Amino acid sequence: MKTMSETIKFILNNELREVSHLPPTTTILQFLRLQERLTGTKEGCAEGDCGACTVIVGKLEGDAVNYEAINACIVFLPTLDGGHLITVEHLGMNPVQKAMVSCHGSQCGFCTPGFVMSLTALMHNKDNATDENIQDSIAGNLCRCTGYRPILDAARLANKAKERHLSTDLKTLRTLQRQKMFSYEHGGQKFFSPRTAEELADVLAQYPAATLLAGGTDVGLWVTKHHRTLETVIYTGNVSALQQITKTAAGLEIGGAVSYSHAFDSLAGYDESLEELLRRFASTQIRNLGTVGGNIANGSPIGDGPPPLIALGAKLVLRSKAGTRTLPLEDYFLAYQKQDRKSGEFVEKVLVPAKPENVLFKAYKISKRFDQDISAVCGAFALTMKDDKIESARIAFGGMAATPKRAAAAEKALNGKTWNEASARAAMSALSEDFKPLTDMRATAEYRMQVAQNLLYRFYLETTEPKTETRVYNYVEV
Ligand SMILES: Cc1cc2nc3c(=O)[nH]c(=O)nc-3n(C[C@H](O)[C@H](O)[C@H](O)COP(=O)(O)OP(=O)(O)OC[C@H]3O[C@@H](n4cnc5c(N)ncnc54)[C@H](O)[C@@H]3O)c2cc1C
Ligand code: FES
Ligand code: FES
Repeated sequence: MKTMSETIKFILNNELREVSHLPPTTTILQFLRLQERLTGTKEGCAEGDCGACTVIVGKLEGDAVNYEAINACIVFLPTLDGGHLITVEHLGMNPVQKAMVSCHGSQCGFCTPGFVMSLTALMHNKDNATDENIQDSIAGNLCRCTGYRPILDAARLANKAKERHLSTDLKTLRTLQRQKMFSYEHGGQKFFSPRTAEELADVLAQYPAATLLAGGTDVGLWVTKHHRTLETVIYTGNVSALQQITKTAAGLEIGGAVSYSHAFDSLAGYDESLEELLRRFASTQIRNLGTVGGNIANGSPIGDGPPPLIALGAKLVLRSKAGTRTLPLEDYFLAYQKQDRKSGEFVEKVLVPAKPENVLFKAYKISKRFDQDISAVCGAFALTMKDDKIESARIAFGGMAATPKRAAAAEKALNGKTWNEASARAAMSALSEDFKPLTDMRATAEYRMQVAQNLLYRFYLETTEPKTETRVYNYVEV
């Protein structure tokens, strides 16, 4: 297999860049500030939380460029290969910048470039953005001094400008696209970006101890916060087969490298409660990067993806050079930070069954902050009904055990019963047999148990009482 190091090639604003002198885990932010001296992009937290480092990356998709806002602080430079990196310096006085000035949307200015980039990406991608769209686009941008009202005013004003904000030299971008795996090496650290699932299986078989990298919203922090040195990184973001979402009569097939933004509409179609949960999954920038596969593969007990997917009966397809195997998603999580992934295997796809009419389903996220916060408890409930009887129940929680886990005792308390107050309360009691949650910085054990029981009761109320509006938007009226 070819491991000769190539050059990272991408367009920076309107110039071609070729980089071969930096370690592959150099972040885009480090490159911009330390190499290019483009200091408009700021470092606030270096962990994807504040949005000060927001840049826009354009990637060729078919004949068009797809532009997304991302956090430069946690993304490794070689993932830019073949793309277009746009920083605040490139925008000039575009409608968003002008509106920020005229609405007094900036005070110390530290957060401002990040807000401008997030809003520019939104307004490029969406004509007539709604207030909800605007708030979602900047939920991952923190401002400590201006206050958000003038920033929202600026966003609304810029929204009225009828002009496309971003463009790319398509001819040059096309010349940067690779047909085969990209390999990069510096200072003993290796980076591979395969194009096909076969190439991925091959390179992973050759380097079974390599770190698989998808969106990097977990892996990036191992470097920026834990200061780990990753010897070999294999990037899944250019494996075309892993980027696909396929909808069939049986349900959804979500490729192992599909981002939450890409999967949003398909998953949101299962229920408005899941749409709400996904809107509150991190921020737009993180959802543009973070993948459904990475969220499962990391095995976090508080990941928001696994509970609803387990309740919906999802299956995981793992692939290696030796072949593929499929397992129920809940069986992948063996113990804290221990998953059923053999050497050389990767998550190829997630299969999510269609939800028949007779299935009652809801998913809920409880976190300290409404937006941009990881769950203290995440609960998901699916009941297959026959008339008013429960044929089978699937209940899964995050934040209640060392792994995402089904609530076997609560499910047993419901199976075969009528769905009423008595069976709901029996299942709520049974949850204390299923879980012995921990106390940590997100919640106490008692709070977690109480919340889990209350979520089950909420599910009962919302699936038996006349429909009420449960969405909460933290809009600021001006
Ligand atoms: C600011 C911030 C907010 C966040 N908020 C939330 C939140 O609200 N809810 C939530 O659930 N999570 C949240 N996260 C965590 C993270 O965004 C998710 O877990 C995300 O889905 C991980 O996906 P990724 O593609 O970025 O994974 P990566 O970081 O690339 O990888 C994660 C793990 O999966 C492995 N991996 C990746 N792809 C594969 C594959 N195909 N096969 C096998 N292994 C693979 C990697 O080796 C690594 O171990 C947040 C993170 C940040 C930084
Ligand atoms: S520096 Fe805070 S999100 Fe990147
Ligand atoms: S203007 Fe100072 S942090 Fe936002």
